[in-house]
Amino acid sequence: MRIGVLTGGSDCPGLNAVIRAVVRKGVQDHGDTFTGFRDGWRGVLTDDAMELGIPEVRGTLPRGGTVLGSSRTDPLARPDGPARVRATLEARRLDGLVVIGGIHTLTAAATLADEHGIPCVGVPKTIDNDISGTDYTVGFDTAVGVATETIDRLHTTAESHKRVLVVEVMGRTSGWIAIHAGLAGGANGVLIPERPFDLDRVCGWVASRFGASYAPIVVVADNARPAGEPVRLGGLSGIGEWLGREIEHRTGHESRATVLGHIQRGGTPSPFDRWLATRFGLHAVDAVHDGAWGQMVALHGQDVVRVRLADAVATVKTVDPARYAENEVFFG
Ligand code: F6P
Repeated sequence: MRIGVLTGGSDCPGLNAVIRAVVRKGVQDHGDTFTGFRDGWRGVLTDDAMELGIPEVRGTLPRGGTVLGSSRTDPLARPDGPARVRATLEARRLDGLVVIGGIHTLTAAATLADEHGIPCVGVPKTIDNDISGTDYTVGFDTAVGVATETIDRLHTTAESHKRVLVVEVMGRTSGWIAIHAGLAGGANGVLIPERPFDLDRVCGWVASRFGASYAPIVVVADNARPAGEPVRLGGLSGIGEWLGREIEHRTGHESRATVLGHIQRGGTPSPFDRWLATRFGLHAVDAVHDGAWGQMVALHGQDVVRVRLADAVATVKTVDPARYAENEVFFG
């Protein structure tokens, strides 16, 4: 078969591992040829592509980012988008597309497959882990690892100076990175978008932690907000810095904020992400050969299964109260 591949949306560690597995399995087992589109859907709309063979993917397993480049281009944002996608596939005589992306990229793939008959198979990736059709997305485990190592390091400097350390992590509208890294790193408070927080309660955790003569670490997801009045960040870089200032002001304990930002998204993928990405890539090629268009590969337990793309992206996967309650045991 002749197969196109693209990576869309925010990059994350493990994208190259997916591409490598797709190409290795397709070339070796089926004699497939591959076209890699540059910068996500942009490359398909403008027919900007490169040939992808085993030499192009060799050595890329541990490399972060994506050899194909990425963008947030939405092929459905323009009326002629679906026609242009179809024209590119026809001009290159491609039988199908492997679309590696997060919610937005995969939502476009679902619509193109279901409503326009464009043959797409999806692979879920995002550090946010917010795609409901799969237990885990490629990139999440690496981001949690980086955030956990950061918390470990901040514990020692916080204790030396008897300071409060606030760590701001990413996650869009979901608190998955925050609750996983918070649990793994022994945070004394974790604040997530799904649960507007009470600042007095957070200050209570800080005070009780100092009472036990340990310095507190508070993890805050970048979209977590206090209940009630909207926060005015006015000159501050984000919620982490705002929270650090508020805690210092209200408790009298010196506070510092660390914003992890894109450090979570860069660099080499963790062993779990390499394992997941490689398995997703292998199963995506099987799905293409089975003509499983409009489907996404997904991890359910230990098994890689297929789910309908449109169902997988229909709702954002968020942290439920029971999961948050597990973290709450360690607050304060
Ligand atoms: O979706 C991944 C993500 O890193 C989010 O956690 C974050 O809100 C967003 O992308 C940041 O996007 P950008 O790299 O465009 O600033």
